[in-house]
Amino acid sequence: MQNSSDRLRIIQISDPHLGLRRPFFQHNWEVLVDLLNAETCDLIVCTGDMTIEGVEFEDELAFAAKQFQRLRGPVVFVPGNHDVGNSLPDVRGGERLITAARREAYIRHFGPDFWSRDFGDIWRLIGLNSMLPGSGLDGEAEQLSMVEEAAATAGGRRLMVFKHKPFYIRTPEETVASQSALYPEHRHRLKEALSPTGAVICSGHIHDYKTASWDGLDQIWAPSTAFVMDRDGAHRPVQGIRRTGYVVHTLSGADHHHEFVEPTHFINIDLGNWMRAPAGFHALYHAEPLRGLILASEVAR
Ligand SMILES: [Fe+2]
Ligand SMILES: [Fe+2]
Repeated sequence: MQNSSDRLRIIQISDPHLGLRRPFFQHNWEVLVDLLNAETCDLIVCTGDMTIEGVEFEDELAFAAKQFQRLRGPVVFVPGNHDVGNSLPDVRGGERLITAARREAYIRHFGPDFWSRDFGDIWRLIGLNSMLPGSGLDGEAEQLSMVEEAAATAGGRRLMVFKHKPFYIRTPEETVASQSALYPEHRHRLKEALSPTGAVICSGHIHDYKTASWDGLDQIWAPSTAFVMDRDGAHRPVQGIRRTGYVVHTLSGADHHHEFVEPTHFINIDLGNWMRAPAGFHALYHAEPLRGLILASEVAR
């Protein structure tokens, strides 16, 4: 929805991790649907990981997309690693990786995995697939050209970029390739294209809220609406505020402000203990639905 006023409101939600087989996080989602439907905003952006298991099961993508239809406002998406598979090369080992088929399934349910659109009179929004760089897939070169073109032709417009993975975790000089952030070569190439525009860069994935700045690029990490990983930082260092919530961006003319929102009725589920399982929680739970839920249908009869 385009708004001709010079004050625009974008609500960024991230990592809701909806699940048909294992609806662990449905409570916060129900709270969020009510909150967002009571809000006035010009756009809702979800920065990825709409699903827990969209990589393995297309009906999980369909389920999550259907949940998003409950929202009144216009919504746009970028994919997360849980939706299309993670980045290549497989630096961690045993990863479920992005493939053409997984990407196509995502696009069927959530639309283009990268996009650019002018928003109001001053802003240009860009959505990126963080797992395309290095994938060798058809869209990889096309996405990079789109960003370079959108930046080069921005003119007086300010850019706001949405992608699942942050540029880096602690510093832009990090040289180790980690699935937590863009790999170093992709981080620097994207930064070269975007720096001259003074873009605002919004990401998810880490499930921590944090702000940072790199050579004219303001970075905002949105928290997950669903869960945190390792609240006390025993296995994974805390990078920012490790609590569930979302981010509201206010664009007043060319000025950008944002606010971290923590709904009173959200539950802060912590999955940190699952990190002790070598294969992660996906391997433990993904294939089997909650057996006890069958009792609910029996009682209802
Ligand atoms: Fe996530
Ligand atoms: Fe993620």
